[in-house]
Amino acid sequence: MNNLNLVVLGAQWGDEGKGRLVDWLAGQADIVARFNGGHNAGHTIVIDGKSYKLSLLPSGLVRGKKGVIGNGVVIEPNAFFAEISRMREMGVDVTPDNLTIAETACLVLPIHKIVDQEQEKRRKNAIGTTLRGIGPAYEDKVGRRAIRICDLASPKLLEEKLDMLLAHHNAWLKGGGAETVEKQPILDELLKFAPELLSYSGPVWSMLDKAMNDGESILFEGSQAVMLDVDWGSYPYVTSSGTLAASAASGTGVGVNRIGSVLGVSKCYATRVGEGPFPTELADELGQFLQSEGKEFGVNTGRPRRCGWLDIVQLKQAIKVSGMSSIALTKLDVLDQLKLIKVCVAYEISGRISDLEAFSSPKVNNAKPIYEEFSGWECTTQGISSFFDLPEKAKQLIKRIEDLIEIPISIVTTGPDRLDTIVLRDPKSCM
Ligand code: IMP
Repeated sequence: MNNLNLVVLGAQWGDEGKGRLVDWLAGQADIVARFNGGHNAGHTIVIDGKSYKLSLLPSGLVRGKKGVIGNGVVIEPNAFFAEISRMREMGVDVTPDNLTIAETACLVLPIHKIVDQEQEKRRKNAIGTTLRGIGPAYEDKVGRRAIRICDLASPKLLEEKLDMLLAHHNAWLKGGGAETVEKQPILDELLKFAPELLSYSGPVWSMLDKAMNDGESILFEGSQAVMLDVDWGSYPYVTSSGTLAASAASGTGVGVNRIGSVLGVSKCYATRVGEGPFPTELADELGQFLQSEGKEFGVNTGRPRRCGWLDIVQLKQAIKVSGMSSIALTKLDVLDQLKLIKVCVAYEISGRISDLEAFSSPKVNNAKPIYEEFSGWECTTQGISSFFDLPEKAKQLIKRIEDLIEIPISIVTTGPDRLDTIVLRDPKSCM
């Protein structure tokens, strides 16, 4: 086991506050690597009151660290270059010297966005995707017709591949009465972006191998979260990539024995965007309170997030399938004003009580949460950076959650700034 490296993953349905933790942990890393998802992700980092909104770029760039985008990520060129421009305007320079993209990473094309929107329209039960073309881009990857960054070096091959890809999607679009998509504008755009995109590309897998052999440490930055994993999430209400720790290895070309410790990030309540099962959802005033107090609106889409109580059954599954070695518990301060706090410790499914259920199973659709109740501390914890300064009732809640999940809580956050962080133990020392 390599104890220099660390994987940071969302342990719920995304938006747990991974970006600011990655930014904070990047201080101890040499390289920050993205391994899954695309510009469907949204990470907000607040430094000295300045808010950086990242989607496709590794969060460590804001800290001046080297960034890597692995083969498991899908890249939309317009989104990529627009984000680089935004970062430059905020004083963060991004160049091929500090960012490398795997040459085998697949591209998200304008037709993928159109297909995503059309798929959502035609589905009987919409998934609530980000409508950015992510799903169709991954479909093309497993369908073996995707265009990869390395294809941009050969215009003839690129055109042939584009013909094949368009023939596939246009037949489907036409069949449902939608407008088909023309090749030339897409080809022109790809050829326009080709030289600059190629200048960022390289063999990420061997670059990371060399870096590790030289003693450098890598922070793997997960996007989305375990409950959105295409295998282990609440299928079909999932994203289209692998979001587990194992995906950090396959999505960058690093051996599984070298990925190190795994830090799962969970809010001390739960949220999800899009459709799908959410047993502890609060469709009432309390849910609205968590939404406004926690500013629970999508970074990318502005969509309000569904809110509910922390779900230990869900969290335990995420911990087990991902091999998480510790948990960062975020947004404790959002609970500050509550008189009563609930935590779901088991489900009742058709009269049977269970505390370990897989979200990939349809049984979870009928789960009724069983709660443990805690009285709230009703005072501010915002900005507290030492465990000892927390109110006693907050400490009791944290300790009880730790007992229930059976792995250590290494970090607690108490506000949006990177200094609003309590470190209980080094996540890299948790194996
Ligand atoms: P897609 O990834 O756009 O295909 O969307 C599939 C599901 O994943 C939808 O429920 C989205 O809301 C969800 N999703 C995708 N990216 C994120 C994210 O960064 N945070 C939270 N949910 C996400």
